[in-house]
Amino acid sequence: MKFFLDTGNMEEITRISRLGLVDGVTTNPSIIAKEKRPFKDIIQDIARLVPGPVSAEVIGTTTEEMIKEGREIATWAPNIVVKLPLTESGLEATYQLSQEGIKTNVTLVFSAAQGLMAAKAGATYISPFVGRLDDIGVDGMKLVRDLKAILSEYNFSTEIIAASIRSIEHVEQAALAGSHIATIPGSLLPSLWKHPLTDIGLERFLKDWASVPQTK
Ligand code: G3P
Repeated sequence: MKFFLDTGNMEEITRISRLGLVDGVTTNPSIIAKEKRPFKDIIQDIARLVPGPVSAEVIGTTTEEMIKEGREIATWAPNIVVKLPLTESGLEATYQLSQEGIKTNVTLVFSAAQGLMAAKAGATYISPFVGRLDDIGVDGMKLVRDLKAILSEYNFSTEIIAASIRSIEHVEQAALAGSHIATIPGSLLPSLWKHPLTDIGLERFLKDWASVPQTK
């Protein structure tokens, strides 16, 4: 499973890139708003640092606005993916942009039917929101499993980005579900390599090592 970072924060991306763990980056308008810098600057900085796909979301709501913005955003770097919401206009724009060879990520996917629509419209990626479904008492990971089964059954090339990931368990379950990608908040990812028993174990090894006679 590929790891994308769900962040616009350069420090988080730089830190985790050093471990070779960043296969791509996703952003959304809320993530961009936290950075207090112009959208284009943020996306271009990320796209220079990360060779993998970098999703940048349109904010227009009509088909025409989304297509215009999508074409413009796609020129910012060679590894840009245009992110579009799952609305009728978003699907139409996805279809048009994909016909033009522009990569797309259809976001705010909350049902298998929506995901199937996006795949049929030519989406490169679809982003089911696991955490937000869990928030309303619906099993978000079931959506990832269902979408994986559907895409596999019909040999779609569309890849699933398990999004709205909130916990280590979400990451593990996304991997078990066969999600192609999980997009993980930059603040959550470091907790994936941490375990209290690792820290306790290392402390004990180092303590015991202190009693080993040193070669003269
Ligand atoms: O990738 C989508 C993600 O940014 C949404 O996460 O935690 O706001 O539901 P969240």
